[in-house]
Amino acid sequence: MRNKHYPNLFTPIEIGNMVVPNRIAMVPTDISSANADGSVNQRVITYHEEIAKGGCGFIIVGATTPDKATGRPTVTCLAADEDPLIPGLTHLAEAMHRHGAKCAVQIQHPGRQAAWPRKNLMSASDHVLDVPGSAGHEIIYAESIAQGKSVRAMTVEEIYDLIEKFAEAAWRVQQAGFDAVELHGAHGYLIAQFMSPFVNKRNDRFGGSFINRMRFTMEIVNRIQIKCGRDFPLGIRYSGDEWIEGGRTLDESVKVAKLMEEMGLAYVDISAGIFESPGTVMDPMYYPEGWNTYTAEEVKKHVEIPVITSHSLRNPDYCEKILAEGKADMVGFSRQLIADAYWSNKAKMGKKEEIRRCISCLVGCWQESLMIRRDMRCAINPAVGDERFIHLQPTKKACKVAVVGGGPAGMEAARISALRGHKVTIFEKTGELGGAMLYCCTVPGKNKMRWYADWLRQQMKKLGVDVKYCTEPTVADLKGYDVVLLAAGTRVVRPKIPGIDLPIVVTFEDVLRCKNTNCEYYPDERGEPVECGQEVLIWGDHFGAADAAEKLGHAGKKVTIVTENQDFAEWMEPCHRDVMMKRFACGNGEGLKSKTYAHPVTIIPNSSVLEIKKDGTVVIISSAFERSTVKVDTVVLAKVESNDSVYETFLEAGLNVAKIGDAKKIRNVRGAVTDGANAALVIEEGAILNANNGLISNLPTGVEL
Ligand SMILES: Cc1cc2nc3c(=O)[nH]c(=O)nc-3n(C[C@H](O)[C@H](O)[C@H](O)COP(=O)(O)O)c2cc1C
Repeated sequence: MRNKHYPNLFTPIEIGNMVVPNRIAMVPTDISSANADGSVNQRVITYHEEIAKGGCGFIIVGATTPDKATGRPTVTCLAADEDPLIPGLTHLAEAMHRHGAKCAVQIQHPGRQAAWPRKNLMSASDHVLDVPGSAGHEIIYAESIAQGKSVRAMTVEEIYDLIEKFAEAAWRVQQAGFDAVELHGAHGYLIAQFMSPFVNKRNDRFGGSFINRMRFTMEIVNRIQIKCGRDFPLGIRYSGDEWIEGGRTLDESVKVAKLMEEMGLAYVDISAGIFESPGTVMDPMYYPEGWNTYTAEEVKKHVEIPVITSHSLRNPDYCEKILAEGKADMVGFSRQLIADAYWSNKAKMGKKEEIRRCISCLVGCWQESLMIRRDMRCAINPAVGDERFIHLQPTKKACKVAVVGGGPAGMEAARISALRGHKVTIFEKTGELGGAMLYCCTVPGKNKMRWYADWLRQQMKKLGVDVKYCTEPTVADLKGYDVVLLAAGTRVVRPKIPGIDLPIVVTFEDVLRCKNTNCEYYPDERGEPVECGQEVLIWGDHFGAADAAEKLGHAGKKVTIVTENQDFAEWMEPCHRDVMMKRFACGNGEGLKSKTYAHPVTIIPNSSVLEIKKDGTVVIISSAFERSTVKVDTVVLAKVESNDSVYETFLEAGLNVAKIGDAKKIRNVRGAVTDGANAALVIEEGAILNANNGLISNLPTGVEL
């Protein structure tokens, strides 16, 4: 029966000899959650099983190495390089099959981009590398100047040895009961290193001409077909455009698709980029929905086999249109299914407003996990990697929970508390919920944050959370509550320097105020953001500073940032930082067509502001005690501190109070949401503060306090 909401999305498709129940694919996602030997464990099964339950038709399990000894893309990726790994892979396939999904494994060797080992890495050529966005990068935070890795070109013997290992790995995947296998030829990993004219500088039969650069891939395909049979569906993922000068462009990518079809491949999965252009590999928020689909559309004109498109697809209406217009045969999601494994079911039921759309922040799934050699998490979905949130335990007895502050930490705490059966009130000092997330609304390209804010606001309504707007509660207001969660976020720091109270001094909050009047969650006029003069100095180094600089730079203001740090925004997720810094230099992120900045944004590092004069002269002092001045029209204060001044008062008054989110420690949306979710799990009748002032409940029998 045709689905009445999205008939194209929910039409089956044949890929080789398998029939996939719908047009929704999970494009490979290495969740880096396997055991240290690359074997499947319960975490890996749970993640993929949830996505199958959630209705995704074709699940391509992420990067799985054919040879642990020479290359793991992440330290705890899956492996298929030994027969004893087969039973675990079988459990994984069975878990997805139980829910009607078809499944494949992506075989990937990282070559130069290995997270492990860290030395003596193999590649097509011997370039020393600097790919700071990649999980295989040596130094991420320890030093501000990223260090490259030394890499050596593979010998011909090593090439043939690895070709055989690819084929063996594919055979193990087939033995385990998977429906298909995919080769990872994208994102600058080993197969891509051979395919790419930018990386491959060999002058033997594996380098040079198109066919020579394709030889490594062709030999792998050939050996897999011999080992697994030509009717075992084999697909390949590669980048339609590498987005680097000298790299592969779409014309050659069409040739790749034709060659792969001729060789008998069952499908092509068209991704984007190479890690030297990190934004295109894992698009930050700035990238518009479906920006990469034109590559699949072009490839599809030249081949008969199914073509998968991916990158920043989020909205079922948009995805339906891609299919209806014949631009691709399947739509692929990676981060969307991390943020909400139930996307497909929600779309099928016509409940698109229930979908927690991924905001492409890359904080949980990349910056704070795979990049730093940890297992994958999600900034907005606490259930990823933490099963306590998949099987939420309803409370035995409803408690009265007060949440002070309606930002991401407060709303997530309220959501999980209400889902567990507690009675929740949010005290919000402004006229609307959203907190710091709302500032992103006015920053060009960052309004995806609003999707999450709106989703949470909708959940508050749906779950019957009582919201007291324009209220800062006193101890007396909170006395009747079993638990108080202080989620008041941050406040702007106003250092005591001469001139701080001059009218030309404003805050980032003034600058980033969203005046949108057409908002379901706040119909009233919010007031205009403060209008800055043509020359602006921003003082600070957190989201407020970066967002204000982006907004003002985009509006054509001449912006100078003063930071006490050695580099600006070192804390920022690297793919975002890469795009932002390129824009600060009046460029753009690769693949982005949006308008670049009119003026460069200048950064003055290792410095602080000493004085602001009436005529706009700002006296700056460097860490070497050198003074300089800048003359501006407006100074924007963007240093923040935790807004927790009521905490001690609440504690002394005997309230069961715990700090969450930025009120506890200034971090990002993931820190806030994780704190909120964790706090809500602990709330039970008899919850108390332990000796660390942490909220606890359910003490073991026999522990008397
Ligand atoms: C945590 C994480 C792991 C990924 N692992 C893989 C992988 O194993 N293989 C691959 O081809 N792409 C991988 N990707 C890239 C995604 O498949 C996808 O192309 C990219 O995230 C953009 O699509 P999206 O907006 O749907 O996330 C990964 C991305 C993320 C965020």
